[in-house]
Amino acid sequence: MNKSELRKLIRQQRRSLSKAQRQSASRGLLRQLRSAPEYLTAKRVAVYLTNDGEIDTQWLIQDLHQRRREIYLPVLHPLRKGHLAFIRYQKNTVMSRNRFGISEPSFSRNKAVSARFIRLICLPLVAFDDRGNRLGMGGGFYDRTLEFVHEKGKTPLLVGCAYDFQRISMLPAESWDIPLKLIATDASLHRLLTFTTPAD
Ligand SMILES: Nc1ncnc2c1ncn2[C@@H]1O[C@H](COP(=O)(O)OP(=O)(O)O)[C@@H](O)[C@H]1O
Ligand SMILES: [Mg+2]
Repeated sequence: MNKSELRKLIRQQRRSLSKAQRQSASRGLLRQLRSAPEYLTAKRVAVYLTNDGEIDTQWLIQDLHQRRREIYLPVLHPLRKGHLAFIRYQKNTVMSRNRFGISEPSFSRNKAVSARFIRLICLPLVAFDDRGNRLGMGGGFYDRTLEFVHEKGKTPLLVGCAYDFQRISMLPAESWDIPLKLIATDASLHRLLTFTTPAD
């Protein structure tokens, strides 16, 4: 199966879940994330608003809100084509629909934060594998925005969020694909090992 066939199949599968299945998976996702120390200690966390049947972040957002964490949402960057910016998400945040029909905070330059300043970023995905490869919707937005993680220095922890059934034995990784460090599903938490050389 090629990437576009795989996207179509899994997107159909995740859209066909019942409301009850979505609710229970959303709670499961939170339970799994809460077992990761990085999630509990992160002061700034980026999430996404559920779209196209993606695993629901509603419980996650509620948990972060209750624990007084700073929540950020991705927005299509109006100046840097193909990139995302992150904007603080609060009760009074003005929202609008972007060209994909996804709800996002209205962009203003003084509210936008670079991904570099966020401790933990939750990424939606269509499929993942055990090596941390991520298949998105095909826009490459996260890949472009997070390219800097290859540089030296502190980088955000990239956490893929998905239903367990979105796991594929092996995904083709392209040179531009940014790998995930942690994958949280409704039922499990996969931590990807990164091998560093002594020079690192
Ligand atoms: N860092 C990058 N610089 C330039 N183009 C990129 C970059 N990352 C991704 N792209 C482009 O985005 C497109 C979609 O990427 P792909 O990885 O297939 O999508 P997704 O990650 O959403 O599944 C590709 O055609 C690729 O050329
Ligand atoms: Mg990609």
